[in-house]
Amino acid sequence: MIILAVESSCDETSVALVKDGKEVLSNVVLSQINIHTLYGGVVPEIASRHHVENMTIVFDEAIKEANVTIDEIDAVSVTEGPGLIGSLLVGINAAAAFAFANNKPLIGVNHLAGHIYAANIENDIQFPLVALLASGGHTELIYMKDHMSFQLLGETLDDAVGEAYDKVGRMMGLPYPGGPIIDERAVLGKDTYHLPRPYLDINGYDFSFSGLKSAVNNLIYHANRKGETIDVNDLCASFQASVIDVLSFKLEKAVNDFKVDHIVLAGGVAANRGLRNKVNERFKDKHVLIPSLKYCTDNAAMIGAAAYFTYLKKGALKDYRLGGHSSLDL
Ligand code: KG4
Ligand code: ZN
Repeated sequence: MIILAVESSCDETSVALVKDGKEVLSNVVLSQINIHTLYGGVVPEIASRHHVENMTIVFDEAIKEANVTIDEIDAVSVTEGPGLIGSLLVGINAAAAFAFANNKPLIGVNHLAGHIYAANIENDIQFPLVALLASGGHTELIYMKDHMSFQLLGETLDDAVGEAYDKVGRMMGLPYPGGPIIDERAVLGKDTYHLPRPYLDINGYDFSFSGLKSAVNNLIYHANRKGETIDVNDLCASFQASVIDVLSFKLEKAVNDFKVDHIVLAGGVAANRGLRNKVNERFKDKHVLIPSLKYCTDNAAMIGAAAYFTYLKKGALKDYRLGGHSSLDL
C-alpha cells in the first residue's frame, strides 16, 4: 500500500511517499527555519503563508522523487493535529483536495503518533514499550501494549523540553532554534553551573521545565548585574546535563514500573546527541530504538508510517471533511 503523506503542523512543509508504513520512497522537507530565525521563534501567520506558497512545489517534488504514477498511490494521509491551526489547515486542504480529485481515501494522522512511528521506519517497534516523546510542543511518556494503543503516563505541566531549549538559547543570544546549537556547544563545555534537576514528584511521570528556564534566566541576569561574563559553552553543558538527567530518570522509572524491554525515543529533541548517548548507555540491557536524525524532527515520512497503522486500525475517513486540531490527544 503506497500512502502519500503530508505534514505541515509547524514550520516544515513536507510530503512523503511511504510503502506499507515502512519503505520511504521519498521524503521532501522544506524548512522555514531561515525565515523564523529573524523573529527568534515561529510566527504562526508567516508559517501558514509559506506553507501555502510551498505546498504544491513540495507535492510535485515528492511524487517525482518517488518515481510513482498517481494511479499507484493507494491513499492520502495528513497530520490533523496537534499543531498550529493555520499551518495544519494548509496541509489538510492540500491533502483533501488531492485525495478528492484523484478519488483516493483520506487518512487523518496524529502528529505524536507520527513521531513514535518514525522509529518503525528503519526498525520494527516491539511491544510492550515505553516511548519518551520530546519535541518543541510536547514532552510525554507513553506506554504502548500494541500497535496504535497509547497510554499517557505523564507529560510536561508547563514548557515542552524543546521549547525550553529554544527559549534558553534565546536568553544566551543564540539563534532560533536553540536546541541543536545548545547540543553542539554543550560538548565544548562542562556542567559547572549545576542547575536544578526538576524531578517534581519523584514517584510520578510528569515533567516541568519552566523552573529550569527561570534558573538560567536568573543566572544570566545576576551575572550581567555584577558585570561577570557567562561561559556560554558551560551554561549549555549545564542546562543539557539537567535536562538529560531528568528525562532519563523518569524514563527509567516508567521502564522499571511497566517492566518493558523495549524503549522508543522520539520527537525533535531525540536528535540531541547527549540524550541519545545517555539513553543508549543507561538502557544497554534493553532494546532502544531511536530514529535517525532526519526522522526525529518534523517530516512527512513519519506521518506516512503512522498512517498505515492508523488505516489498519480505523480505516479511512468516510468523506473528505477533516478539521485541524491545535490540541489532539493520542
Ligand atoms: O519534533 P519537532 O521537529 O517539532 C515539534 O513537533 O515540536 O521538534 C522541534 C524541537 C525544537 O524545539 C528544537 O530546538 C528541538 O526539537 N531540537 C533539539 C535538537 N534538534 C532539534 N533539541 C535539542 N537537541 C537537538 N539536537
Ligand atoms: Zn513534531
